[in-house]
Amino acid sequence: MSDTIDHLLQEKRVFEPSPEFKAQAHVKDDTPYREAEKDRLAYWEDWAKQLDWFEPWTKTLEWEPPYSKWFIGGKLNACYNCVDRHVKNGLGDKVALIWEGEPGDRRDLTYSEVLEEVSKFANALKKLGVQKGDRVALYMPMIPELALAVLACARIGAPHSVVFGGFSATSLSDRIVDQEAKMLITADAGWRRGKVLPLKATCDEALKNSPSIENVVVVNRMKNGEAPIDMKEGRDHWYHDLMADASSDCPAEPMDSEDLLYILYTSGTTGKPKGIMHTTGGYMTGVYATTKWVFDLKPEDVFWCTADIGWVTGHSYIVYGPMANAATQVMYEGAPDSPSRDRFWKICADHGVTVFYTAPTAIRAFMKWGHDLPAQHDLSKLRLLGSVGEPINPEAWIWYHKNIGGEKCPIVDTWWQTETGAIMITPLPGAVKTKPGSATKAFPGIEAKLLTDEGKEVEKGGGYLSISSPWPSMLRGIYGDPQRFKDTYWSKWDGIYFPGDGCTRDEDGYFWILGRVDDVMNVAGHRIGTMEVESALVDHQSVAESAVVGIPHDVKGTAIAAFVILKDSAEPSDDLEKELKQHVVEQIGAIARPEKIMFTADLPKTRSGKIMRRLLRDIAEGKTLGDTTTLADPTVVESLKNRYEDKEG
Ligand code: WTA
Repeated sequence: MSDTIDHLLQEKRVFEPSPEFKAQAHVKDDTPYREAEKDRLAYWEDWAKQLDWFEPWTKTLEWEPPYSKWFIGGKLNACYNCVDRHVKNGLGDKVALIWEGEPGDRRDLTYSEVLEEVSKFANALKKLGVQKGDRVALYMPMIPELALAVLACARIGAPHSVVFGGFSATSLSDRIVDQEAKMLITADAGWRRGKVLPLKATCDEALKNSPSIENVVVVNRMKNGEAPIDMKEGRDHWYHDLMADASSDCPAEPMDSEDLLYILYTSGTTGKPKGIMHTTGGYMTGVYATTKWVFDLKPEDVFWCTADIGWVTGHSYIVYGPMANAATQVMYEGAPDSPSRDRFWKICADHGVTVFYTAPTAIRAFMKWGHDLPAQHDLSKLRLLGSVGEPINPEAWIWYHKNIGGEKCPIVDTWWQTETGAIMITPLPGAVKTKPGSATKAFPGIEAKLLTDEGKEVEKGGGYLSISSPWPSMLRGIYGDPQRFKDTYWSKWDGIYFPGDGCTRDEDGYFWILGRVDDVMNVAGHRIGTMEVESALVDHQSVAESAVVGIPHDVKGTAIAAFVILKDSAEPSDDLEKELKQHVVEQIGAIARPEKIMFTADLPKTRSGKIMRRLLRDIAEGKTLGDTTTLADPTVVESLKNRYEDKEG
């Protein structure tokens, strides 16, 4: 982390929005910041009024820390706001989704078509017994049916829980069991980097341990028999069969503003992921507002967020935010380097993408692949770029600005979390000058501050990021675990939200987010708990104990290094190392594969038995060791360091 700090603090470049961009932007100056500050609730109410409500709310906010309720008494439907109202307003023929499959297949869907498909599928879900309040798990590739299924769940008031298609069967069944999901929606398979991702087969494995699932719906993605699957009579149903005789008449269910819209699991500091809960009115208000202002979205824009709907970025900035704004957007199934490393730029050029939102890990990969690849494509339609998921290093920021943005597109570096639901710290591109590596200022209506451990505000310098007042799209809790909700986010300071990120503030009050301060790693923009990987390792028969740390990686930002103590019966070997890496993949998913495994006889522990991860990080990064005086046995560290260096050398 200290390298990042050094790097960031040397960064002095400032980029003003161009006069042309400013002239056409939704927000051109700091007026909204001042207005939001004057009357935060009135400001959020103004946003909420831009949604369609079946019944108005009677009270804007009830705040009993850590519980907030927004737009109390109001009734609305998220799907209605993303689809029906646009069709009613004459936008039925507007293209909602321009979808490309990895092999190059293509499908466009207008808002009217989305309405038709979603209504039919919603009816099919009802016919299979899904009722308002029932949880539905989704495990799908990035195909239009994923967005449609999410919207269909919202339409009938069944909270959805999307599980990223790269997670293992164990991860999937853990999530299903935790929320007692009643139905699972999947596809036979998906394409990823030219390979078939056997989703249904993984579901079959997960279903052995998912007793709550009554029915499984399977979309037929593979049209040429590339992924033959088993269908279990009575339990498994083809999507196209259900759709064939489904009625397209399915009015959207009026939901209470505080009804659960979805559960999305994210990693925490224990081995068990947290089911983050988002409700309807506040969440929709937050994603609607941020999509419109942060991405300066206009009716003629072609928006492309490259995230997977399995992560929160895809929930908020593919499904709900852009669709609530009646956007036209690109959705892409596969990898950025399939069939070649210029795929993204070809997609931007082919569809005239104007606003492009991706992650620093992708940008660093593009840098490696060379600037001549984007240069071969017409990227002149791009007018705004975004970044999300991890700190963007100034070097990557500048590369992005030059080679993708042609030095004319503002860059919005957006800080937020699964828990915050919507973007929290970000420039407004027509109003805020940017500095490479800084997410700049809090979105109007959001109160972000830096605090010390004791809760003292830091105006300039380093501290913990905090959010000091409730915001509409905030998480409403952790599914089934109110205590963990309180402990994780609300126990550091009284009534103030603790996101778990370290940060510094400069002389202009700009935020420079440095990364997690807890035992959560951010690997290629994905959150993985050190404990999750440790539990996966000790699950292997040869492993007695393990300690996992994040180490710097030039593309992924952070990579996983694991220190492993073997049981007496096992011997260290390259084969065992491979086997352990594979075991983690099977337990969690490929995103958690350790980069390095180091076999050791001991781990550095404090006298109270706590593993000192800081020292392990220093060892793995080859740094001089910091303070070892609190160690129970200081010699452990020296011998570990020597062995690690031998191995690396
Ligand atoms: C990190 C992704 C620096 C941060 C939307 C946060 C960032 C975690 C940024 C949330 C950014 C996200 N700059 N760090 N612009 N955006 N992060 O829940 O550590 O997958 O706590 O949400 O990613 O990850 P999550």
